[in-house]
Amino acid sequence: MSEKEAQTSTDDLQYVQYQGDKEEIYLPAIRQLISKDLSEPYSIYVYRYFLYQWGDLCYMALDASHSLIGVVVCKLEPHRSGTYRGYIAMLAVQEAHRGKGIATKLVCMAIDAMAKRDADEIVLETEVTNTASLKLYERLGFLRSKRLHRYYLNGNTAFRLVLYLKAGTATKMPADGEGMSNIGARDCYGGQGQVLETR
Ligand SMILES: CC(C)(COP(=O)(O)OP(=O)(O)OC[C@H]1O[C@@H](n2cnc3c(N)ncnc32)[C@H](O)[C@@H]1OP(=O)(O)O)[C@@H](O)C(=O)NCCC(=O)NCCS
Repeated sequence: MSEKEAQTSTDDLQYVQYQGDKEEIYLPAIRQLISKDLSEPYSIYVYRYFLYQWGDLCYMALDASHSLIGVVVCKLEPHRSGTYRGYIAMLAVQEAHRGKGIATKLVCMAIDAMAKRDADEIVLETEVTNTASLKLYERLGFLRSKRLHRYYLNGNTAFRLVLYLKAGTATKMPADGEGMSNIGARDCYGGQGQVLETR
C-alpha cells in the first residue's frame, strides 16, 4: 500500500487523495457515483477540468475491495475579489453508506488541504432542499451568502455557502466594485463541459 493510499483509515474505509496515474480506475467510478444524484450528467471534460488541475484536492473513501464509497472534488484559484478561493464542486456518498460521517470526513480533508494551501475562503452551491448537505456544511461553519434563484439547469434554486478561513475575507470587494451581493461568478458546468460565467 502506498503512502497516499494509507492516508487515513476508519471503519474499514480508506480515505485517499485522487491519483492521476490511476485515472482509468477512479475516473469512471467517480463519474458513476456523482452522476447518480445529478439531474443532468456532467461531461467527461468537466471531471477532467477539475482532476487534471486540482487532483490533489480530490479525496475518495474506498472500501476494503477498493470500491469507491464517497468522493469530494474541488478547485482553488484566485477570485476577482482578490481572495484565494476554494470551491467544492462535487460531493457524493453511496446511498447505502450515508449518515455515517463519510462526507463530513471527506469535506474536512478538502478544507484542511485548501487551508494549508493558503485559501482565504471556500464556497459551494447546494440545492435549497438538500437538507443533508446543508446540515453537513453548516455544522462545519459554512454560512448562507446568497440565494440563487433557478440556479440549476433543472430550474431548482440554490444557496451559495461560504466558509471564511481568514479574518477580513468577508469584506473584500470584487475588482469591478460590486459588493458581496455578487460574491462569485457562477461556475456552471453544462452538459458539453463548457464553463459558463453567467452571474
Ligand atoms: C449530502 C451527502 C454527501 C451526505 O453524505 P453523508 O456521508 O451521509 O454525510 P454525513 O454522514 O457526513 O453527514 C450528513 C448529515 O446530514 C444529516 N442528514 C442526512 N440525511 C438527512 C435528511 N434527510 N434530513 C436531515 N438531515 C439529514 C445527517 O444526520 C448528518 O448530520 P449530523 O451528523 O449532524 O447528524 C449524501 O447525502 C449524498 O451523497 N447526497 C447526494 C449528493 C449530494 O446531494 N451532494 C451534495 C451536493 S452539494
